[in-house]
Amino acid sequence: MKKDLISMVDIKDELQDVINLAMEMKHRQQMGEREVQAVLKNRNLAMIFEKPSTRTRVSFEVAMTQLGGHALYLSPRDMQLGRGETIADTAKVLSRYVDAIVYRAYKHEMMLELAENATVPVINALDDLEHPCQIVADLMTIKEKRGEFFGLKLAYVGDGNNVANSLMLGAATVGMNIYLATPEGYEPNQELTGIANKIANESGSKVVITHDPIEAVRDADIVYTDVWVSMGEEAEAEKRLKIFKPYQVNRELVKHAKQNFIFMHCLPAHRGQEVTDEIIDSRNSVVFDQAENRLHAQKAILVRLIQH
Ligand code: CP
Ligand code: NVA
Repeated sequence: MKKDLISMVDIKDELQDVINLAMEMKHRQQMGEREVQAVLKNRNLAMIFEKPSTRTRVSFEVAMTQLGGHALYLSPRDMQLGRGETIADTAKVLSRYVDAIVYRAYKHEMMLELAENATVPVINALDDLEHPCQIVADLMTIKEKRGEFFGLKLAYVGDGNNVANSLMLGAATVGMNIYLATPEGYEPNQELTGIANKIANESGSKVVITHDPIEAVRDADIVYTDVWVSMGEEAEAEKRLKIFKPYQVNRELVKHAKQNFIFMHCLPAHRGQEVTDEIIDSRNSVVFDQAENRLHAQKAILVRLIQH
């Protein structure tokens, strides 16, 4: 049966294996072992992007090439999807040509509909609920920098958005404590918070939702933030920029973190909003390692989903 990656929950039981595989593939690439990686020779990947993307698009496309396969970038503007063909019919047709579909969607319901109708694996490249591929790369980055997850405290400060939802599930899965500080009304998704709490109980970690950024950042090993206005929320920009102001990651806030904390951001960053230049450009920042690791993580995800 085909396996999708729509939510972090889908990858829960193999998350550590996928992270380890990504680290191994990175190591092999650094050693110059290119041929060994060509395990998806003659395989094809369709990538539908309803929203803009730099990292996700390029890393999936390069990942597929490095694995010996081919990736097709598809914009709904150029597809019949943009003229009213249903996502269900699109899923059925693409499944006859390609070995997996990567999809960046505005609406989670569309993601589910594509997955229900595709007979090949569907990979969520971000929707309004989750961004699982990002979190696989983030956890890989944390493992590289800190060696293990257990006992670490991750502080997520800002909007309880797609990245926050997946990060909360991912942290709980690997047994890392996560504190999410958001303004009232902008907490992570309630249903996913319930699931994350259950997973955290099993893994012996904690999920704490607070409105106090200092409580979240106090003695944190990792400080993570994301944009205050996600793609598709542009109409709310003015209101959001006001509400989120006390949640900026700046020098004052990170004084409460451990001295050797690492700063993370999925990028793109809106410098001067959710984070100041001096923090994102500081020695504590690992944002470009995170971005690089998207490539290695995508390779591990593709190998696991397409080969098996
Ligand atoms: N972090 C991330 O998904 O970036 P892109 O929107 O550039 O793909
Ligand atoms: N939360 C952001 C993440 C971008 C990678 C958005 O959805 O726009």
